[in-house]
Amino acid sequence: MCGIIGYLGPKDVVPVLVDGLRRLEYRGYDSAGVAVVNHGRIDLRRSAGKLSNLEAAIHNDPLEGSYGIGHTRWATHGRPTEENAHPHRDCTGKIVVVHNGIIENYLDLKRELQAQGHTFVTETDTEIVAHLVERETKADGLENAVRRALMLMRGLFALVLISSDDPEKIVAVRKGPPIVVGLGDGEFFVASDTPAILSHTRDVVFLGDEEMAVITRTGVVFTDFFGRPVSAVTQRVLWDPIMAEKAGYKHFMLKEIFEQPSAARETILGRVSQDTATVFLEEMNLSNAQLRDIDRVTILACGTSWHAGLVGKFMIEQLARVPVEVDYGSEYRYRNPIASAKTLAIVITQSGETADTLAALREAKKGGAPSIAICNVVGSMATRETNGTVYTHAGPEIGVASTKAFTSQLVALYLLALRLGQARGTLSPDEARPHIDALLQLPVLLEQTLAVAPEIEQVAARFHARTDFLYLGRGINYPIALEGALKLKEISYIHAEGYPAGEMKHGPIALIDEKMPIVTIAPHDRVFEKMISNMQEAKARGGSVIALTTKGDDKLAAILDLSRDVIIEIPASPELLTPILMAIPLQLLAYHVAVRRGCDVDQPRNLAKSVTVE
Ligand code: AGP
Repeated sequence: MCGIIGYLGPKDVVPVLVDGLRRLEYRGYDSAGVAVVNHGRIDLRRSAGKLSNLEAAIHNDPLEGSYGIGHTRWATHGRPTEENAHPHRDCTGKIVVVHNGIIENYLDLKRELQAQGHTFVTETDTEIVAHLVERETKADGLENAVRRALMLMRGLFALVLISSDDPEKIVAVRKGPPIVVGLGDGEFFVASDTPAILSHTRDVVFLGDEEMAVITRTGVVFTDFFGRPVSAVTQRVLWDPIMAEKAGYKHFMLKEIFEQPSAARETILGRVSQDTATVFLEEMNLSNAQLRDIDRVTILACGTSWHAGLVGKFMIEQLARVPVEVDYGSEYRYRNPIASAKTLAIVITQSGETADTLAALREAKKGGAPSIAICNVVGSMATRETNGTVYTHAGPEIGVASTKAFTSQLVALYLLALRLGQARGTLSPDEARPHIDALLQLPVLLEQTLAVAPEIEQVAARFHARTDFLYLGRGINYPIALEGALKLKEISYIHAEGYPAGEMKHGPIALIDEKMPIVTIAPHDRVFEKMISNMQEAKARGGSVIALTTKGDDKLAAILDLSRDVIIEIPASPELLTPILMAIPLQLLAYHVAVRRGCDVDQPRNLAKSVTVE
């Protein structure tokens, strides 16, 4: 997620902006920049890479000013380069904007503005804001030009703008991503998060959704997008800066677990049309003809991303009726694999830098396979070595254990399966519509599922001292059993195994005794009755069952003994959404067990966030 900072006050603005950006580094970024107003002129300094590069640029070509804005960019549209770094300007260079979020209709607006003579110099969606405000500017102030521009934009955006034609003013806008206004003593701040301003003031106003703040040296005016005054409650932030980086959560992993509804929403945004029941994945760069020509799909990934691939197999085979194989990146190249121009290679990788996955990709490409990446990092190796990328817009994932990136990968795979089905004619618009409706419901279902967090914390209190866990699932939820076991292993260091529940009788059942918890993933689907049998087999051998099932269940209470067993209910959903929802309680279980065991949840021993070695 991008970082935004703005300052208007008596201090030298440049150090305030750079220090504020440094306090937002935890949000992850790949470029940075500042714009300051100095005697009516706007000066910019921007750089790719880390803030130290921006500081060097400022050192080599100093600038000063009485107020200004700054930005750290987490690329979503356009590579992480200096020219794509914010702030962005209009044709005149007098209007400057920084942005966090995604402008869904930026291509239409860009074409319209270009036809009207506006010249663009970046690949970003953000740049259209500066030109739109330029076009909408009349003699009624920057804030009104921004209001007129907002009426034309679709998507999610936190924006901060200045104009040298309307000096001593900062305009901030929120629709989705947060904006906080800091109220100092004769000085004012605006930022995407409180850590950037806590060293100056603890008195803040969190801008409401679809609201605007107009900052001048005399104060701040808060309105809605139509200019109508809105109430602004000043709050005193008591967090220390470190806590603030985690938005008050104890660990980044917990914060990221709770960010999954917005990560899903932003991954879906701009990619589906309910009217025409179609899915758009232009960035895949593969035509319908190419997609129709595919006779097999090979998914290549590691770890949690490999689990996502196993779920993707179900989705793609069900919706696009093309055979899918899923292989570990570390294994694929050693089996003399079969790949051809009719093989679609899909690499799934949060970081885009996993050496084993990249090696597998190169092996598949040797066979002539067209390839796409499902990736969370713009400009990473995997996105540069494939024909196209379906980005997960989960934002930076700081915790080593993948959570929001994983569920965003499942969303991206669902979209991809629908897109393949459309291209190959195996899915009519009428057949696609319920899937699109389900996806649009997903963020709400995720919010509802997160409500089980307190119950899961209790489960962790009961079972955190156990030494071995078994996770069982069937069908599309078998990979979720694997993922749940991996989450527990990697952050609590407890041995855990995921298995297809039907496999239990072929060996693992020998492990079960009264010390072993058996986590069973049992939504009310076509294998629910079989999962009940598995639970009874486990109980007959003394095991404790931790059952995840669908809200409103009236069967499990009759067979489980709640003094030894647990029932966790999550919202009902269409089948292809159940793995996404079931991942949530399993992430929370691993998290709370690890916390109780005093483990380093965000940086587990022996693990790296991105394994760039083979
Ligand atoms: C996930 O919790 C692990 N940290 C790990 O398995 C990870 O999924 C794997 O290393 C692949 O990483 P990637 O998605 O960045 O390629």
